[in-house]
Amino acid sequence: PIVPLRPLLETSNKYGFAHGGFNVNSVAQAKAVIEVHSMFRSAAILQAADLANGFMGGKADFLNATLEDKKKGAKNIATAVKKYADQVDIPVVLHLDHGKDFESVKAAIDNGYSSVMIDGSHLEFDQNVELTREVVKYAHERGVSVEGELGILAGVEDNIFSNESTYTNPMKVCEFFKKTGVDCLAISYGTAHGPNKGKDTKIRKEIAIASKENLRHEGIFGTLVSHGSSTVPQYIVNEINDLGGNIQNAYGISIDQLKSVTKHGIGKINIDTDIRLAITRNIREYFNFNPNKKASESLKDIWSIMKAKPDAFDPRAYLTPIID
Ligand code: G3H
Ligand code: 13P
Ligand code: NA
Ligand code: ZN
Repeated sequence: PIVPLRPLLETSNKYGFAHGGFNVNSVAQAKAVIEVHSMFRSAAILQAADLANGFMGGKADFLNATLEDKKKGAKNIATAVKKYADQVDIPVVLHLDHGKDFESVKAAIDNGYSSVMIDGSHLEFDQNVELTREVVKYAHERGVSVEGELGILAGVEDNIFSNESTYTNPMKVCEFFKKTGVDCLAISYGTAHGPNKGKDTKIRKEIAIASKENLRHEGIFGTLVSHGSSTVPQYIVNEINDLGGNIQNAYGISIDQLKSVTKHGIGKINIDTDIRLAITRNIREYFNFNPNKKASESLKDIWSIMKAKPDAFDPRAYLTPIID
C-alpha cells in the first residue's frame, strides 16, 4: 500500500539507519523499484522530481512543462504506483522531489502523492520558512508528509549547473523545524547533484552531527536528508565510455561515508544519477550487441534475447534493460 513518509522516518530515526529515496521518470522504473524492495522486504521510497512529473504527463520538452503537464504526470505515476503498491506487502511512499512552488506541490498532493518536498533553498531564510509552512499546512491536513531544504547544493538541478555549495548552518536547523513543522530536511553538507561531484569528495559530517545534536537538545523530532548521494560506480562509467559514451570527470560519494552519516540523523539518501548511469550502460550494451563478445554476468539474459533475435525491434525488449 501507499503510505506517507513520516512513519518510515520515525523508524529510521529510532534505529539509526537510512532509507534510499530513488528517483524515477517512468512507470517501468517505478515497477522495478517496488519489485526490488519487495524482494529485500524493505519499505520503498519512490521519488519523481517536478520536471519528471511534467515528462510523465506526456511533455517530451519537459524543461518547459506547464502546471497542467505536471498535474497529468502526477496522476499518471500515482495511479500506476498505487496499483503496484497494492500488489505487494511492503509500504510504498510516492514522494515529490524538489517541488518548485506551492502550485507544483499541490498538483502532486491532489493527484495521489503521499509525500512532497518543497525546495525553498534559494529563498531567504524567512521566505523559505513562510513557503514551507504554507506547504506543511496544506499537506499535513491531507495526511501527506513534507521535506524542506536549507542550504544550496552544487551540481545540476533542473538542468541548471551551479559550482558552489552553500552549506547548511546547523544553528538554523532547529528553528526551521520549529517554525515550519516539516517532517524532514535536506541539508547541504558537501554532496552535489549529478555525476561530477569531484574526486574523493568528503562529506562535511560535522554539519549533520551538529544539526542532529541541536535537534536532540531541543527535543524536536527531525530527520535529515542527504541529496546528491549517488556513488557513481567507476566500472559503470568506464563501460558507458567503452560503449561509445563520453562521461568525463564523474565521481560520486563513497558508500562508507553514506553509511557513517546514517548514525547522525540522515534518514533518507537520494539517488538519481546512479540509476541514470545504470540505464545508460544497459541500453548502450543492448544496442552495441556483438555476438563474438562475452556478455557480462548481469546482462546475460538480455544478451541471450539479442543473440536469439538480432532482428528484434519490439520496444518491450528495450524496456527490459531499463528495468534491470
Ligand atoms: O535532484 C534532482 C534530481 O536529480 C532531479 O532531476 O529535475 O532532471 O528530474 P530532474
Ligand atoms: P544524485 O544526482 O547524486 O543521484 O542526487 C539525486 C538527488 O539528490 C535527488 O533529489
Ligand atoms: Na535545492
Ligand atoms: Zn536533490
